[in-house]
Amino acid sequence: MKILVTGGAGFIGSNFVRLLVESKLAQKIIVLDSLTYAGNLQNLAGLEQQIEFVHGKIQDDTLVKSLFEKGITHVAHFAAESHVDRSIHEPDAFIETNIIGTHSLLKAARAAWKDFAGKKFLHVSTDEVFGSLAPHDPAFHEKTPYSPNSPYAASKASSDHLVRAYHHTYGLPTLISNCSNNYGSFQFPEKLIPLMIVNILEGKKLPIYGDGKQIRDWLHVSDHCAALLKILQNGVIGETYAIGGRNEVANIDIVDSLCDILDGLMAKDTGLKSRFPNCPAAKGASAKTLKHNVADRLGHDRRYAINADKIESALGFSPKENLKSGLQKTVHWYLENEDWWRNVLNGSYRQWIEKNYLDRGKA
Ligand code: NAD
Ligand code: DAU
Repeated sequence: MKILVTGGAGFIGSNFVRLLVESKLAQKIIVLDSLTYAGNLQNLAGLEQQIEFVHGKIQDDTLVKSLFEKGITHVAHFAAESHVDRSIHEPDAFIETNIIGTHSLLKAARAAWKDFAGKKFLHVSTDEVFGSLAPHDPAFHEKTPYSPNSPYAASKASSDHLVRAYHHTYGLPTLISNCSNNYGSFQFPEKLIPLMIVNILEGKKLPIYGDGKQIRDWLHVSDHCAALLKILQNGVIGETYAIGGRNEVANIDIVDSLCDILDGLMAKDTGLKSRFPNCPAAKGASAKTLKHNVADRLGHDRRYAINADKIESALGFSPKENLKSGLQKTVHWYLENEDWWRNVLNGSYRQWIEKNYLDRGKA
């Protein structure tokens, strides 16, 4: 396959590109990324010989057309604005990239692929398109009606509908995945898990929205990427696959687990204490002392959960990481890659999150 990976310098996209390179399944890998605040070429370090990186937007019709002219047979479409909080404050970019951008790619694929045989367009989407579950509702599945609540979720829902319509109307060979919350290496520290890890290390407050009892279904990014590769190889054209880890956990429990892991590691390792002197455990206290309740996210979805029966039975998918092993690995990755997150934090991100969240007062 000759594959175009959009958003390949972001969190999941870069993990996917790494897996693709390891798999040796692709003769050509082109990564198209506009390097927004969330895109980072360091996420692709070491892969320069195996990929062609193109800096640009998915909405740039001329650029995208020129990439398809290089003989692209497959698309893995990750590029998006992905952070719910940002979509609540500044929704425009979500409409522009997630809806208009996805449509540009669909148009270009349709125009370039005169013959659809051997072609595949995988649209990477989210479980947030389904809305929010009550405590005893059954988990989301491929037939759950759409009911997006945030501007982010609505923009992703809109893009899913466009993809589906391009398959139904023009026969474009599409595949859609709707995955639950990811975590792992290279995740930008504005999302819950990496934000809590770096804040614990730096001795900063851990902002918990509302009562902290909102539930997410966590999946390690390596398992999401493995599932996507299976879909790309063996998924049935025109179908949708729900992906999840069967790991429903309340936010507050995730935060407590991260505090426990870092308290434990610090207690055993004096080197860590001197590297992170502001971390409470370096001074004999628990990271839990940093927990700080803040006002809730507007329109906050209460619970997500995925029923992954279809991908498990049809494609033989099963996650390799459980939440315990995945969180341990993730904490170790952030400890071993301090330069990566310090470089990220030196950017504009810190000011944005402090203005919008840490300074907005207690719940
Ligand atoms: P991310 O924000 O880390 O990365 C997005 C990437 O897209 C960045 O590299 C960014 O520079 C690039 N990008 C943004 N706008 C662009 C544009 N107009 N043109 C080209 N590139 C652009 O996001 P992520 O968490 O890696 O998510 C990737 C995809 O997976 C998204 O489509 C998201 O909706 C979906 N998803 C994410 C999760 C999750 O938990 N993070 C779960 C399910 C689905
Ligand atoms: O479900 C899949 C989605 O998961 C993806 O489509 C999104 O791209 C991805 O960002 C993620 O969305 P969430 O809003 O669930 O993720 P986030 O990490 O922002 O928040 C997880 C939960 O933690 C949510 O209930 C809000 C809460 N939270 C988050 C942050 C950043 C806090 O309590 N405090 C925080 O500081």
